[in-house]
Amino acid sequence: MLDVRSIDLSYGASLCLRGVSIAVEPGSITCVLGRNGVGKSSLLRSIMGLETVGGGTVAWEGCDITRMPTAERARAGIGYVPQGREIFPFLTVQENLETALAAAPRGSSVDSEVFDLFPILRQFLRRRGGDLSGGQQQQLAIARALCARPRLLILDEPTEGIQPNVIKDIGRVIAHLAKDRGMGVLLVEQYYEFARGLADRLAIMVRGEVALSGEPAALDEDAVRRLLTV
Ligand SMILES: Nc1ncnc2c1ncn2[C@@H]1O[C@H](COP(=O)(O)OP(=O)(O)O)[C@@H](O)[C@H]1O
Ligand SMILES: [Mg+2]
Repeated sequence: MLDVRSIDLSYGASLCLRGVSIAVEPGSITCVLGRNGVGKSSLLRSIMGLETVGGGTVAWEGCDITRMPTAERARAGIGYVPQGREIFPFLTVQENLETALAAAPRGSSVDSEVFDLFPILRQFLRRRGGDLSGGQQQQLAIARALCARPRLLILDEPTEGIQPNVIKDIGRVIAHLAKDRGMGVLLVEQYYEFARGLADRLAIMVRGEVALSGEPAALDEDAVRRLLTV
């Protein structure tokens, strides 16, 4: 459903992505791994149209969206949870969720299913986003993206700075979305264990390039670990 082919991205004179290709299928989880600064977030931002790529193409459900504005990509069914969550601290949980409806089909309301996935949010509906814990904020950010009813969910380091029990909850939700609801998931991570447990495909980035990719079972674990420590 998502087919990224050979994209290049520069920030001024410095090349950030070089010929990066990656694909996501419905009902499957593709995970991009790599050390800090290798270009993972830049890749996701390029897919969302938040950065303008210098070369290559982004195709979504068979259409070339390389030059499509970000808001249209969201309306076309691509949900994005940025690194650092970016929830609105002064809005309540309910209001944060409602901000997603701009990208949802007309007449939509907050999807009550998100409260089945993240029961804590129902309990804290009137609480301000800024008063939630990091893990709760991450759950809110994912729930907000889901309110736009995406067919592809893109997540940038959802486990960053979060307690292990909440990481497990988030992992379960991601697996459920893909396996039971047929959603495509593109996940960026720094933690190999979390990624390997979830992913149908892994891609390991090193300095702006995909250095190794494939099904987790087919990849040499030592080689992966080496690439994550260089
Ligand atoms: N807006 C920007 N302007 C200039 N350089 C940037 C910008 N965003 C990221 N970079 C640089 O691009 C590289 C990749 O960053 P990023 O995509 O955030 O990596 P990652 O998510 O893998 O940690 C880093 O060297 C970073 O400093
Ligand atoms: Mg990043």
